[in-house]
Formats: sequence, structure tokens, C-alpha cells
Amino acid sequence: MAKPVSIEVWNPSGKYRVVSTKPMPGTRWINLLIEQDCRVEICTQKKTILSVEDIIALIGDKCDGVIGQLTEDWGETLFSALSRAGGKAFSNMAVGYNNVDVDAANKYGVAVGNTPGVLTETTAELAASLSLSAARRIVEADEFMRAGLYDGWLPNLFVGNLLKGQTVGVIGAGRIGSAYARMMVEGFKMNLIYYDLYQATRLEKFVTAYGQFLKANGEQPVTWKRASSMEEVLREADVISLHPILDKTTYHLVNKNSLAIMKKEAVLVNCSRGPVIDEVALVEHLKQNPMFRVGLDVFEDEPYMKPGLADLKNAVVVPHIASASKWTREGMATLAALNVLGKIKGYPVWSNPNQVEPFLNENAPPPAASPSIVNSKALGLPVSRL
Ligand SMILES: NC(=O)c1ccc[n+]([C@@H]2O[C@H](COP(=O)([O-])OP(=O)(O)OC[C@H]3O[C@@H](n4cnc5c(N)ncnc54)[C@H](O)[C@@H]3O)[C@@H](O)[C@H]2O)c1
Repeated sequence: MAKPVSIEVWNPSGKYRVVSTKPMPGTRWINLLIEQDCRVEICTQKKTILSVEDIIALIGDKCDGVIGQLTEDWGETLFSALSRAGGKAFSNMAVGYNNVDVDAANKYGVAVGNTPGVLTETTAELAASLSLSAARRIVEADEFMRAGLYDGWLPNLFVGNLLKGQTVGVIGAGRIGSAYARMMVEGFKMNLIYYDLYQATRLEKFVTAYGQFLKANGEQPVTWKRASSMEEVLREADVISLHPILDKTTYHLVNKNSLAIMKKEAVLVNCSRGPVIDEVALVEHLKQNPMFRVGLDVFEDEPYMKPGLADLKNAVVVPHIASASKWTREGMATLAALNVLGKIKGYPVWSNPNQVEPFLNENAPPPAASPSIVNSKALGLPVSRL
């Protein structure tokens, strides 16, 4: 029998019971649920990652919907518990949903929401920050300064890589990968090489137009290339950022062999999911190649790092904060709450999950729709005509 978990309750007399497994930023998401007759229960347990048993206890005997987190294992056990409690809606507070077994959700008729449209720029900005931090050795230099080791300017002190004119490689040029590519091309005048299963036409057009603009101003134009393999990107790029989804095809995409073909002074950034890199192989590669640098937001066995990584000066590591801007996190909370609310109320699904601005306008009520349900087709849910 699972132990009871501590909760905070809003609007105790609400008709629908909605559980959030974590406190989330802002209050708009709570108010939107309360206004629609929901009793909102927020888990306040002082434990970062809830177990399946903890979540079963939270779901209890009657639960209409749950807002959960990417650290939780949403599979057969939880979806069957939610279904038994009368629940028909779950939303991850994340765009990625590799922690969710969508087939299991389909089996129990539970809608699965995610939160695209608000993470793109924030995550791309963190990838750009990690690229710069690694290329210019910001963290190492900061530690040096704080340790009182700086005793004057020196020609060889913390020499790093100039980005301008170098090649940025993007693996997975979807929403975030494309936004990152634009930042690096426009901000630092880097040439682009990318690999994706699909052509990133808008991104290509952007780089072409920017190249023409530079040329017209007498500057060296930037260029783009769509690689026919990931290896081509790894071989040619000076800075490589990983932005694919995590699935069977991208697990350990970067491994011992792929690291071996990268330039010895390349910078590798990962803001996607930890298991996209074989972290043990990466640690070994960093040890052997001190001029090779990485910026990591995600790790293979979060919250842990593989042995040795924390000691390496050529690694910049941050704790999965790529989406951590106030606007984004409040937006994610709002979209997750509206995904669950929409299903409870029988609303249709929003037709374009990438265009969610109407849901984020604080001065108007949100549209009567679920912003993004990933299994809407499988469940045969109607699509909004708005
Ligand atoms: N670190 C964070 O906090 C954070 C924040 C947001 C998103 N993410 C991760 O980033 C991922 C991407 O987000 P997005 O919104 O850009 O998703 P997206 O679906 O728009 O883009 C993913 C891209 O990866 C491509 N892809 C899939 N398999 C591939 C393969 N084998 N090789 C190359 N490309 C492949 C797809 O075609 C697609 O273009 C999410 O799934 C999530 O896991 C992490």
C-alpha cells in the first residue's frame, strides 16, 4: 500500500478532480482550472522524482485528469490506475514525451498532452549559451577568477574557438534545432550543415536570404547544406548541437565511433535527451581530447552523471534547465492544464499545436480546445475549427 502524499488543495468543492504531481510556476493555470469547476490538488511532497506508487496514491479512487512531469514513468500501471479512477486526461509538462507509453494510454482511452510552442526559443537560447560557454571556456575561466588565480593578462590565457566563419552542425532540425541554427547563423555568421529525416525548407530559405543580405553589404555570405548522413555533419562541423527526439533511432546516436570522426577541437552540445549520447564513451573521448569540448543540459541517467564527467574541465554541465525561463515555464503549466481541462470538458483539439498564442493571452479567456494532444488521431478526437 502506497504511503499518502502531501498535497495542497484549491477549490475543494470543484466538480472535477485534477491532480498536478508538482507545483508549477505561475497561478494562471490554477485559476483557469478553478474557473471551470475543477478541484486542483498539487503534490507538495519534498521528493524530486515521484515513484509510480506515489502517483497511484495521488490518483486515488476518483481523478479526472493528471498533469505530470518528464521524470515520471507513465506506462501501463499509471494509465490503468487513472482509468480506474475515471480519468481520461494526462498531460506532460514538457514537449518531449519519451517517458510516456502512448500505446498504453490509447488502450485506456486516456488523452496524452504535451506543450510545444513555448519551449522553442528558450531551449535554443540555452543551446546557444552552452555553445558559447564551451567554445570560449567561460566556466573554466570563471572558476579560475574565483579561485584568485588571475594575476594579469596573458597571451595564452583561456584561448578558445572563434565561431564566426566556422560551421555549425545541427542534428534534428525541427522546431528547436531550426531556432538554434538561426541564432548561430545570424548571430555569429556561421555556415550551417544539418541532418534531419525531413528537409528544413524554411531554415534553408532563411540562411539563403541572410547570405544574400551579407553579400549585398560586402561581407562573406553564410551558406547551408543538408547532409545526407549524420556522419557528414559530425565530420564537417565545428560546433554540433543535438536536437532530435529520443526514440530507438536516436538512442546513443553519438557514440565511440561517431565521436572518433569529429574534429579534435569540436564543440558538442546536447539539449535534447541524455541517452542520445553514450555518456561513458563521451567521458573517455573528453579525457583523450582536451581540446574537444561539450555543453550538456541532459544526462543519460539523470540526475546522475557518468563517473569522471564532473572532473573534466572541457565539459560545461547544467541541470536540465533548457526550458527554464519564467515565460516558458508558466506557458508550459498553462498549456498542460488546458490539455487536461479540454479533454475533461469534451472540447476539440487545437488544429495547430505550434501556434498556441491564443492560449497564452492573459487578457482573454483561452479558446475552448486542448492545445496539444499527441494521441488525438488514435483516440479519434475532434479537431477545433477555430
Ligand atoms: N533540455 C530540455 O529541457 C528540452 C526542452 C525542450 C525539448 N527538449 C527535447 O528536444 C526534442 C526536440 O524538440 P522539438 O520541439 O524541436 O521537436 P521537433 O519534433 O520539432 O524536432 C525533432 C526533429 O528531430 C528529427 N529527427 C527524428 N529522428 C531523427 C533522427 N534519427 N535523426 C535526425 N533527426 C531526427 C525530426 O524529424 C524532427 O525534425 C524534444 O523531443 C525533447 O526531447 C529538451
